[in-house]
Amino acid sequence: MRKKITIVGSGNVGATAAHWMASKELGDVVLIDIIDGVPQGKGLDLLEAMPIEKRDSFVLGTQDYKDTANSDIVVITAGIPRKPGMSRDDLLNTNYKIMQDVVGKVVANSPNSILIVVSNPLDAMAQAAYKISGFSRNRVIGMAGVLDSARFRAFIAMELGVSVENVTAFVLGGHGDTMVPLPRYSTVAGVPITELMEKSTIERLVQRTRDGGAEIVKYLKTGSAFYAPSAAVTEMAEAILKDKKKILPCAAYLEGEYGIHGLFVGVPCKLGARGIEDVWEIRLTDEEMAALKKSADSVKELVAVVGV
Ligand SMILES: NC(=O)c1ccc[n+]([C@@H]2O[C@H](COP(=O)([O-])OP(=O)(O)OC[C@H]3O[C@@H](n4cnc5c(N)ncnc54)[C@H](O)[C@@H]3O)[C@@H](O)[C@H]2O)c1
Repeated sequence: MRKKITIVGSGNVGATAAHWMASKELGDVVLIDIIDGVPQGKGLDLLEAMPIEKRDSFVLGTQDYKDTANSDIVVITAGIPRKPGMSRDDLLNTNYKIMQDVVGKVVANSPNSILIVVSNPLDAMAQAAYKISGFSRNRVIGMAGVLDSARFRAFIAMELGVSVENVTAFVLGGHGDTMVPLPRYSTVAGVPITELMEKSTIERLVQRTRDGGAEIVKYLKTGSAFYAPSAAVTEMAEAILKDKKKILPCAAYLEGEYGIHGLFVGVPCKLGARGIEDVWEIRLTDEEMAALKKSADSVKELVAVVGV
């Protein structure tokens, strides 16, 4: 049986994720949105690309949640993106209302699905989806760390003039200004970057990673990044659908790991057929642990505002 992936929100991130997923033949893709015609048009357009791509992914655009029934994975990108000068946190109340609208319908139609939340502010929206869905914690995952790590990896590769394939990196914590890039665990061909670059260079790349989303918003003016975010969510979906047991930084609901209780925070997770199959508790220095706690505290403030 082919896998079924629903993408809620057919805007920049949603439609581009559909593009990556269909062209990787991860399964059949259903695009849904509140704007009449947009998911239908984009879905049909993408479907018509499949003979050229030689991929048997069926793509359907719809406004009817019945068409999403029994999805294996549901990616939630519904919501407003940032404009220049806005922080992700400014989106909180609007996107929380959207989450309340969407998650109930998703759950009613795909009770056994795994949810991957993309809407911002990411950690708070993942927490909302978790609470509204009533799903077990392994089945609600937030996408941020894969994107933030990819940005860091791209900057490291550019700085050293090496292949991006050689670069691994870990960015933990919340998806915001308090994210925690971990240079000690970031490597080029297995060599930690702390052996390869001056401290000041690493700090510059870390800062660019923290500001990575804002850098794109500033250029685009009318929206936020979508190619890398949608590639990131595709990597997570692929790890789950192919049961790859891949270690990726994801926002997960912590129940004591890293000393954090009842909160979504970005940590290394093993993604496989059951969703989050394990949370890795890696050793952190006191400074790194303090940064993670600070990041968790800012997520805690946000979830308190919407009471989830
Ligand atoms: N987690 C991350 O790293 C990350 C990265 C990029 C974007 N984002 C977030 O993802 C979200 C989407 O970004 P985008 O660039 O695709 O925005 P976009 O405006 O291009 O698309 C959002 C879509 O959601 C739809 N929508 C709104 N309410 C809906 C509802 N109730 N049901 C179904 N669809 C609904 C809109 O009609 C729109 O088509 C934003 O909140 C953005 O901040 C997160």
